[in-house]
Amino acid sequence: RQHVISVADLSTDTLTQLVKTALHLKQHPQPHLLDDKLVATCFFEPSTRTRLSFETAAHRLGADVIGFADGANTSAKKGETLADTARIIAGYADAIVVRHNQDGAARVMSEFSSVPVINAGDGTNQHPSQTLLDLMTIFETQGRLEGLNIVLVGDLKYGRTVHSLAQALSNWNNTFYFVAPPQLAMPDYITEELDEKGCAYHVIESFEEALNLADIVYMTRVQRERFDEQEFLKIQGLYVLKAAMLAHVRANMRIMHPLPRVDEIHPDVDETVHAYYFEQAKNGVFARQALLSAVLNEELPA
Ligand code: CP
Repeated sequence: RQHVISVADLSTDTLTQLVKTALHLKQHPQPHLLDDKLVATCFFEPSTRTRLSFETAAHRLGADVIGFADGANTSAKKGETLADTARIIAGYADAIVVRHNQDGAARVMSEFSSVPVINAGDGTNQHPSQTLLDLMTIFETQGRLEGLNIVLVGDLKYGRTVHSLAQALSNWNNTFYFVAPPQLAMPDYITEELDEKGCAYHVIESFEEALNLADIVYMTRVQRERFDEQEFLKIQGLYVLKAAMLAHVRANMRIMHPLPRVDEIHPDVDETVHAYYFEQAKNGVFARQALLSAVLNEELPA
């Protein structure tokens, strides 16, 4: 029973293997790999990409899917605990994919589930399957996962995708640049981990300067749902990427975003060669196929 709760649960070798498998599956579909499996997708918090790409991944590997997109319509509303919910769903399905607004919710479910639990995002904490598709996308666009200048922009405090991604990329020798207002700075536990792994990181004030040295620019949304409204209004619209700002960027630079975007990437960026966020979202299907295959102990294609 192998749960995927945090990127810290995945060794560098495992991450590398999963990225390779995901890239392979993108080119070589495996419609019967999970023919006899049933995957439960339990989403207590809104999602478009993560839930639908997990479900697409399962269906396109031959698995069946059960689940819910709105936790408010489940017995959680009547007070059922996460522990009991995990016990019950583990009796129905071969794997549980869970998103929840509480940090640590997936970890709690994993402690009471007899089948693998995959964290599809818990509060402000972790989003490991997003990290896998992000690593796949970085490898696909740059041909490697090391020696890159990674610029992380926006809400680095509450953005669980950037926490997981920075942790994962610190397994290789990359340099990080953080572009964020002080109240949305990267948490200490992440910078301490970068220190431990010997990865350089810099807090950089000028967004344009950061753009020009980047191999990857990873934009994020300011997470309105995690803020007091007055605080949110003070920082809304601080970093807005427009096509005119890309005149001096590296030719290989690609822009990523976990999406949804609000106003942080102007639509005029979409048609530039640097925009890669829609292909990144599509990669979610292949990365999640690799993850589901791995936790269900299926032989992975080479
Ligand atoms: N990137 C991401 O987690 O998107 P959703 O919230 O739509 O799942």
